[in-house]
Amino acid sequence: MTQNQFSMPSINLFGQGTIQETGSRLKDVGAKKTLLVTDEGLFKLGIADQIVEIIKASGIEVEVYPKAEPNPTDKNVADGVKAFKSAGCDSLVSLGGGSAHDAAKGIGLVASNGGTIHDYEGVDKSKNPLVPLIAINTTAGTASEMTKFTIITDVERHVKMAIIDKHVTPLVSINDPALMVGLPPALTAATGLDALTHAVEAYVSTAATPMTDACAEKVFELIPEYLPRAFANGQDIEAREKMVYAQFLAGMAFNNASLGYVHAISHQMGGFYNLPHGVCNALLLPHVCRYNLVGSEDRFATIAKYLGESVEGLSKREAAEKAIAAIERLSKDLNIPSGFKELGAKEEDIPTLAENAMKDATAATNPRKPKLEEVMEIIRGAM
Ligand SMILES: [Fe+2]
Repeated sequence: MTQNQFSMPSINLFGQGTIQETGSRLKDVGAKKTLLVTDEGLFKLGIADQIVEIIKASGIEVEVYPKAEPNPTDKNVADGVKAFKSAGCDSLVSLGGGSAHDAAKGIGLVASNGGTIHDYEGVDKSKNPLVPLIAINTTAGTASEMTKFTIITDVERHVKMAIIDKHVTPLVSINDPALMVGLPPALTAATGLDALTHAVEAYVSTAATPMTDACAEKVFELIPEYLPRAFANGQDIEAREKMVYAQFLAGMAFNNASLGYVHAISHQMGGFYNLPHGVCNALLLPHVCRYNLVGSEDRFATIAKYLGESVEGLSKREAAEKAIAAIERLSKDLNIPSGFKELGAKEEDIPTLAENAMKDATAATNPRKPKLEEVMEIIRGAM
């Protein structure tokens, strides 16, 4: 039997009002001063202030770093480390979708281990654990509030560095759906399809286990029902709540089974053209699935069944094709753009993008092993 590990934060809070526990959870770990990492949008909306007040009410001092960019950069990490050290912080709170958590994880890594964030690209490169990190999620989602994955853009190289490190797993994750009712439809769609991508990639991954399968299968059941509802009416709190669980389960799946070529390529598209992660995944997902179909028909046929497609009497191949058609239909319903060209991507960049994708840490667990030309073909298909 292969040896496997299943990891996630020690404590995970779900439901309306759970943000109120931020201060007491910090107190539990003996924090005296914390750095709140967030993005400008949430800072301007006053949501960061709300969290600051909750933390202060527990007698803990707070410093705010509100500059995590949508694709957080190496510069964000370096600036955050400066803020963390000069204020004498002993803990971190991240508030956001993916970016704030990724930035906070990067800040924690460098603060605890020294050097620069570039030193930690790859798998388990750090020696020391992070200071306590409480991650408050505002989208559904990247699941970054509960994973050991951190994606940081190297501004000079235009590359997203994939850092997969057991030490960056937050101590506590908080998913309060009340923070999500204001998310606009386009962001709801992109983040929800990111979650679906996590489940699909983990399900066909070479590192999938019965544990990660069980998580992904539930995601396939939840998303076709609740993502369109959350997209159609952001105030639908039941849909928001179910999407919180769906994205978290997808996180449990990919945190332990890793991902594949959708993310390997998507990291490059996002880093090169500064595009939203969820949109990149949504554009790539059907193309990578079609490539991965060879050798994984069984898995895709099962996905179709869980997505609620009628597969009775169909061959494995026909059922598998239905999974891809269902994914394409969902993207269309959610108004995902038709291709990367419309977002500014250029044909001449494809060889570089493909080469970098093959070096991405998430490519390793893709079920089918492509040659460079095949990766280029996948990108071309999504243009
Ligand atoms: Fe993702």
